[in-house]
Amino acid sequence: MAEEKKYDIGLMGLAVMGQNLVLNMVDHGFDVAVFNRTTSKVDDFLATPEAQSKGDKLVGAHSLKELVSKLKSPRKIMLMIKSKDAVPAPELALYPENAAVDAVIAELLPLLDKGDVIIDGGNTQFKDTERRTQYLQQRGIRYIGTGVSGGEEGARRGPSMMPGGDPEAWPLVKPIFQAISAKVGPNHDVPCCDWIGDRGAGHYVKMVHNGVEYGDMQLISDAYWILKNALGLSNKELYEIFAEWNKTELDSYLVEITRDIFTVDDPETGKPLLDLILDCAGAKGTGKWMSQLALDLGVPSTLVTEAVYARAISAMKSQRVNASKALSGPEKKFEGNRDEFIAQVKQALYASKICSYAQGFVQMQAAAKEYGWTLDCGRIALLWRGGCIIRAVFLERIKEAFDKNPALENLLLDPYFKAAVENAQVAWRNVVKTAIELGVPTPGFTTALTYYDSLRSASLPANMIQAQRDYFGAHTYLRVDKPGEGPFHTDWINVKKS
Ligand code: 6PG
Repeated sequence: MAEEKKYDIGLMGLAVMGQNLVLNMVDHGFDVAVFNRTTSKVDDFLATPEAQSKGDKLVGAHSLKELVSKLKSPRKIMLMIKSKDAVPAPELALYPENAAVDAVIAELLPLLDKGDVIIDGGNTQFKDTERRTQYLQQRGIRYIGTGVSGGEEGARRGPSMMPGGDPEAWPLVKPIFQAISAKVGPNHDVPCCDWIGDRGAGHYVKMVHNGVEYGDMQLISDAYWILKNALGLSNKELYEIFAEWNKTELDSYLVEITRDIFTVDDPETGKPLLDLILDCAGAKGTGKWMSQLALDLGVPSTLVTEAVYARAISAMKSQRVNASKALSGPEKKFEGNRDEFIAQVKQALYASKICSYAQGFVQMQAAAKEYGWTLDCGRIALLWRGGCIIRAVFLERIKEAFDKNPALENLLLDPYFKAAVENAQVAWRNVVKTAIELGVPTPGFTTALTYYDSLRSASLPANMIQAQRDYFGAHTYLRVDKPGEGPFHTDWINVKKS
């Protein structure tokens, strides 16, 4: 009897991302076995013309046991378990976490042999990946938690992938992951996928990717909003502006889709679709995680935090509608030069974006120290150069900056970015000033500028905070005139006052 065919990799979870990754793997020559809890999804997927065209390179399984039985040893099983959709509800409260993975691991464990590999390709909180990697290591199973970015299209044509976990697993999945990932470089042969680091490092980096994505989206929305409200621009005019910007240093996937969004009409009403969309932003939680973890580390990732809050206040629709009737603001109209202002908004967007990426890299460096990873920031910038949602031409510059100086403390100190922000700052300040004068919220631009001004301040008023803390709670302080000494405490009430 002929030996039963064995497959290179198994994938569980046939939602859109899972399906597209499977087809991508088969296109790159790998034989894939698939499974989904709702088994009718397996049959439906295999019956699609695209799956049919793959012949015997694709096979279905109706149980985890069957899936495992179809795989070459050491087995590789990728989980693409979908996190729940957050419905953009008027009162946003949905941040579901990816707990289902533990249940699948428990089910898989008795079916696997030592040396087999489990891969989680979802947006998982990195602490779960840290825990799972160690738990499985003790049981002889190799675990990978990988970021997969690029949405449906990315999964099908080439995502950016950020794997971390058990380093012994990497050589086993590397050929598959690097084959299916997006490619960049002059010859389109540099994969946007490389080993990130131990345990949860891959998922951490993916989370920062998503947080930076939140920042980018908010900054683009700030630009859209100030242009629309200050200048009263139409969607057609906005399309032209974003089309222009996308030919410059702002060239990126998110600017490109923003440009295109301005052109889409609702098939039902014929009206611009953008204008019909309720202004309540949803979220699945990776931005919130990045913010929470920045607070844990004590690093100021203010762009992502502001972006998360901007989504939160957007979702408070009824409160905003009520407040809009009760609270007043300036009645001023924009009076400057319109073309100049458009150019200034572009500068504000660019400079704020640089601050946002600077914060993301600072957070990753702090996390690497805290959690014991070795992260290569230049390589991470390269992985984000193609395939993912934040892909942008300017990531090449970030890569160069870290290649030149791997210990770069802050992207803003790299000569290229320092000059770019210096060149943009008069315009940037004017946009923030104008937004404040007109009463138009631009939370991303404003918080980025505050970060920039704080970072470049050798002195800040924290001496006052320390004095207050010591006054009411004897929390002590250090002195500028006695370095290396202290801490000091003063009896603020009884001390002689001038
Ligand atoms: C990606 C995206 C993706 C993310 C969505 C939605 O890299 O492909 O980051 O992973 O889940 O963008 O995120 P929110 O629902 O939180 O906006």
